[in-house]
Amino acid sequence: MITEHPSKIKFLKRSFFQRILGKCVTSLPADPGCWTYSEGVVTLDLQRAPELSKPGAALRIEGEGLPKRVLLVHGDDGQYHAFCNQCSHGGRRLDPVAETGTVQCCSVGKSTFTYEGRLVFGSAKKDIAAFPLREEDRKLLIDLPNPIAQ
Ligand code: FES
Repeated sequence: MITEHPSKIKFLKRSFFQRILGKCVTSLPADPGCWTYSEGVVTLDLQRAPELSKPGAALRIEGEGLPKRVLLVHGDDGQYHAFCNQCSHGGRRLDPVAETGTVQCCSVGKSTFTYEGRLVFGSAKKDIAAFPLREEDRKLLIDLPNPIAQ
């Protein structure tokens, strides 16, 4: 359920065509070997993913037998956050919106979710899954529930 007034929501600067085509901002890691997946856990080596070093940065983790795409965000709050990278409206990818504590769908509906995955704006009707994660020895371990709930 949407609880935020639309005037409080910030939008990523994207052209209409970028939104129609669903072109997200967030990149794949420069080092594709920075993460592995095994038995429901994604392990990402932060030393091999320098793109994530600053708050506001994000990476897409997908492919290589991963059951669901993951958006990994180094949040404005200094914490890491992981999401199912699939908008609950039409399945498009998400990007972080700087200095708002939210992630937003790259499509025209601009569905926007908090770091907890709670829907605050847009065409979607449901929240997205925010995956639990923890940091150990400069590695992030992201638990993907099985089956993954949307
Ligand atoms: S797919 Fe995300 S708002 Fe439509």
